Amino acid sequence: MSRSAHPAGPRHADVMSEGHYLAPADDLNVLDEKVWSRTVTRDEHGAVTVGGIPVSRLAEEFGTPAYFLDEADFRDRCRAWSDAFGPGADVFYAGKAFLSRAVVRWLKEEGLNLDVCSGGELATALDAGMPAERIAFHGNNKTVEEIERAVAAGVGRIVLDSFQEIVRVAHVAQSLGRRQRVQIRVTVGVEAHTHEFIATAHEDQKFGIALAGGQAAEAVRRALTLDGLEVVGIHSHIGSQIFDMAGFEVSARRVVRLLAEVRDEHGVELPEIDLGGGLGIAYTSDDDPREPHEIAKSLGDIVTRECEAAGLATPRISVEPGRAIVGPTAFTLYEVGTIKPLEGLRTYVSVDGGMSDNIRTALYDAEYSVSLASRTSDAEPMLVRVVGKHCESGDIVVKDAYLPADLAPGDLIAVPATGAYCRSMASNYNHALRPPVVAVRDGEARVIVRRETEEDLLRLDVG
Ligand code: LLP
Repeated sequence: MSRSAHPAGPRHADVMSEGHYLAPADDLNVLDEKVWSRTVTRDEHGAVTVGGIPVSRLAEEFGTPAYFLDEADFRDRCRAWSDAFGPGADVFYAGKAFLSRAVVRWLKEEGLNLDVCSGGELATALDAGMPAERIAFHGNNKTVEEIERAVAAGVGRIVLDSFQEIVRVAHVAQSLGRRQRVQIRVTVGVEAHTHEFIATAHEDQKFGIALAGGQAAEAVRRALTLDGLEVVGIHSHIGSQIFDMAGFEVSARRVVRLLAEVRDEHGVELPEIDLGGGLGIAYTSDDDPREPHEIAKSLGDIVTRECEAAGLATPRISVEPGRAIVGPTAFTLYEVGTIKPLEGLRTYVSVDGGMSDNIRTALYDAEYSVSLASRTSDAEPMLVRVVGKHCESGDIVVKDAYLPADLAPGDLIAVPATGAYCRSMASNYNHALRPPVVAVRDGEARVIVRRETEEDLLRLDVG
């Protein structure tokens, strides 16, 4: 699928999408490796397979809708990130993208650290055996109870997000007889080129403490005076689904400037800088994400250069990719239900899930691609909108895409790149049952998060 301007203007079946003409790919049966996880391919019968297992077998065994997660790809991506950054840096997987006990164990085995941002994520991490010192605890409004649990567990760092929290964490640490390692999250004032709701470094939003007006310097000043805290570094996260490295470079430069100010004022060189997550992935063939080694080099170079210029020793760098690790590793498998052709517009293809398993299209106008997965087809491309079964017209999974015109109820279609922020943001809207996550590896598939049941729903409803 292509969203570039069509050279010859719109063809019969082309559609204007966000100012671009969306043209069908030359062959709808081809799976673009940019958007599919690494072990996905088609077998000799034309069925999409992952880890060697065809989707028809997966659907039969696990039902639809369901997320299928390519474990080998997940582990490869973890290794690519940690190899790219090397032993002198730390990679924290951002658990909000998708977290389960199996994922925690894979991270632990692959040598990654983990960023959590709630009591629930902390509980999952600890339960699955992630050593506390490899956990960073985030959030703009951590409760005192969450802070107590994190400090008592001995998390490696807490990322402080406000002036009040500086005092709160110091107090908790002191009352538990601990000295908590902390970073201070700053907002560096860059406009990340992404959707407004997932941009976090401009000043008018809820996260962090602004560098502007000396706020962040004041936060460091206060934190350094408190016995319960060991200030180890500065943290900056500029947003999500970002392709352009320029924002990260400005952020790194401004954070290093703060480190220099801290050194000048307090004679202390803070040893760590965390540049957050937010690296974009390919949701459609038009997206061109950076490889981890390019990102590592670009960030490493800029930090080293800025530190040299400021006469600082280069601090230990850390990053927190969530989407870039798990996003590309999973797809959602749906069964096609009602098909409704709207003359002169498009064909609405309804699936057995929807905004309850992927809210990103409705919430961020996100773009996805889709393929017929249970078979191939030589039929003409048909312009479709893939919609869910919820009582809401905004219940759209894939806004504009092409599927073969012989698509029929009962076919399986798959939406790739749904590993991040789909299951983790899933809801029970219309009392939908949240789909399972099935890990597939080397011809074996196992449920790592089971499908919800009506019994689960009724258990919470205490009458
Ligand atoms: N570190 C911090 C402090 C964060 O707040 C986030 C994401 C990450 C790391 C990981 O970002 P990633 O590499 O996954 O982009 N629900 C939205 C994304 C919200 C991200 C929130 N924070 C979406 O579906 O696009």
